[in-house]
Amino acid sequence: MQAVLYSIVRGMVKKINRRFTLKARPEDLPEMEHFALEENEHPNLARGEVRVKALYHALSPWQGQRLKDFANYTGPFEIGELIDGDVLVEVVEAAPGADLAPGQLVTSRLGWQDYAVAKADGLSAVTEEFDPTLWLTALSSPGLTAYTALDLFGRSMPGQTMVVTSAAGSVGGYAVQLGKLAGMHVVGVAGGSSKCGYVVDALGADACVDHKADSYADALSDALPDGAHQVFDTTGGPVADAVFSNIAKFARVLIVGRTASNNSNRPDLDPLNMRLLWAREATIQGFSRYSYPERWAFARERMMKLCRQDKIKANHKTVDGFENLPQALHDMLAGKFIGKVLVKSGVPQ
Ligand SMILES: NC(=O)c1ccc[n+]([C@@H]2O[C@H](COP(=O)([O-])OP(=O)(O)OC[C@H]3O[C@@H](n4cnc5c(N)ncnc54)[C@H](OP(=O)(O)O)[C@@H]3O)[C@@H](O)[C@H]2O)c1
Repeated sequence: MQAVLYSIVRGMVKKINRRFTLKARPEDLPEMEHFALEENEHPNLARGEVRVKALYHALSPWQGQRLKDFANYTGPFEIGELIDGDVLVEVVEAAPGADLAPGQLVTSRLGWQDYAVAKADGLSAVTEEFDPTLWLTALSSPGLTAYTALDLFGRSMPGQTMVVTSAAGSVGGYAVQLGKLAGMHVVGVAGGSSKCGYVVDALGADACVDHKADSYADALSDALPDGAHQVFDTTGGPVADAVFSNIAKFARVLIVGRTASNNSNRPDLDPLNMRLLWAREATIQGFSRYSYPERWAFARERMMKLCRQDKIKANHKTVDGFENLPQALHDMLAGKFIGKVLVKSGVPQ
């Protein structure tokens, strides 16, 4: 089906916009049947607004969590609500008073739709200096979350050991690279031997332990003879619990995400090895990037500098086709991808 359908109504050309909304809540991983593909007409532009066309949709585990009926720091999507998400878009039309011109690229949280209308001053500029996809990855939530959490709450000392869970993932992949740049001995944890190979060979970790292997607990202990001085955890659940069993004295534990419990139908699935964390006098710090908007520009400047110096590698996988968004979200949550997942929307001109 064409992305934009044109219908002639009383001599007027109407553009039709495709959008995915929530149809039913998944118990576990989302399937196509949980989404409705709808069409609506483009609204007219008001002063200061622009019409934008989606180029790349960024997928995130929080989208999977918000399909379900439990809340963390964000609430669930309503049935019938547009699936929200970060998008790299191109301006196709600008109303008077909008400080953007057709052809300019910007990013914003505009959701799973071909086109959107937005206030021009609420969109984030994209400079031509970098590959545009970096504005959804290293220079957006994944890279800036890793940078800000480590900058504000880490203690990244050369020679000390940092463990990163979901090390081949979107945020984790940048945490690995930043830990190495800080001189740490970095041990990644990832699901599968090919992901572990990527974490060591492409991202530069010193070692990576496969949490899907039967030998996970033993291999983790072997990789951490002095224990973990810093943990950058985005998963929680049993994968992280095994890491906490290898904590060093006075360790720092940054709790940045909860993919394991968000992904399951068990929001309570979050046992921490509290006794050992107490005995080793660890500091546990929860982190949400939304609490530090004033640090965002600083983190972006620093990450831009590291990208210019080729010290940070892009860390994403591209899937083609707007219609494949639900399947790509399923596959991302099932652990089938490496890095940030970007869906190239392919909206025709
Ligand atoms: N605090 C903040 O401000 C902030 C900002 C951004 C993201 N986050 C959170 O951080 C987490 C990571 O986000 P991301 O975008 O970087 O996603 P991601 O790590 O790329 O997420 C996908 C990966 O999660 C892992 N995974 C899936 N189910 C799992 C399970 N049951 N147990 C352990 N690992 C599992 C899989 O990797 P393996 O195959 O390697 O297991 C999968 O490839 C998410 O929970 C997200 O909501 C927090």
